[in-house]
Amino acid sequence: MENIFFNRNIISTEDFSRSDFDFLLNYAEEIKKNPERFSKSMDGKIMAPLFFEQSTRTSLSFQMAMLQMGGRVLDFDVGGSSLGKGETISDTIRMIKGYKADAVVIRHPSGGSAQLAADILNIPLINAGDGPNQHPTQTMLDLFTVKEIKGKIDGVEVGLVGDLKYGRTVHSLLIALSKYEGCKIYFVSPEVLKVPETFLQILRNKGIQFSEHKLDELQDIVKLVDVLYMTRIQRERFPEGIEGEQQYKEVSEAYCLKPEMLEGVKAGFKIMHPLPKVSEIDVSIDDSNYAYYFEQAANGLHIRKALLYLTTTK
Ligand code: CP
Repeated sequence: MENIFFNRNIISTEDFSRSDFDFLLNYAEEIKKNPERFSKSMDGKIMAPLFFEQSTRTSLSFQMAMLQMGGRVLDFDVGGSSLGKGETISDTIRMIKGYKADAVVIRHPSGGSAQLAADILNIPLINAGDGPNQHPTQTMLDLFTVKEIKGKIDGVEVGLVGDLKYGRTVHSLLIALSKYEGCKIYFVSPEVLKVPETFLQILRNKGIQFSEHKLDELQDIVKLVDVLYMTRIQRERFPEGIEGEQQYKEVSEAYCLKPEMLEGVKAGFKIMHPLPKVSEIDVSIDDSNYAYYFEQAANGLHIRKALLYLTTTK
């Protein structure tokens, strides 16, 4: 079968069709089932991870994916880099281009930074999160996880809860869901953190059913959905200074999913969360059958193996 991901950049979920997602998910399923078959797949290849912003899961799972497939990983520590001397992201990317890595994985606090890097590079560029804009590989592992939970993605009813303004995982995910048939999305957020209009317009253009809800409706929405996708308030995206601090304070503890709110949920109901979580899910839920966020995070390994292999191998 033709590898439709070869030499492709992974910048935005808008760039991928449903059949692209299906191809990737099937490949990742194969890798999850038979990891040893892929243990030498990246032999001789080097990944350059450029994380200009903090990360636990994305960074570690990309590194682990590379190592478990026999590849190597360049050591980039933003704290010890020349960024502190004022070097621009463009110059840093030009250096990496000259050093001949096989793939670059970038996380940066500015929206559009991944596209900027891709425009300079001539090797596959993977966006590991560009500011409040997109986090496409998170969405790919989210789709993989929804399929694992429900057996399919078409027709799934999802509640997206929390910081829907700055939460890039939500933005990428809603676009991806719009490529499947019959999905329904319930948005639940504080008034000041609603989904930006530009993303809602994408859903309207595609005829996707969605509705927006206030936080006090969360308990009712929980009962309607197959998957509840919780997110934390993205404190780091609020404006700097006293005004931003005040805005954050007003919403920082606005919602917390409690066990008693889960009474009467649908059969097979699961809670997902891109993590890290802070205080938006009561910790007693972590050990319940409803929590699926650690399995979700683990799925990142298979998806990122598939992405690294497919983008770099003809
Ligand atoms: N979900 C996610 O992007 O987590 P990290 O910020 O830890 O990479």
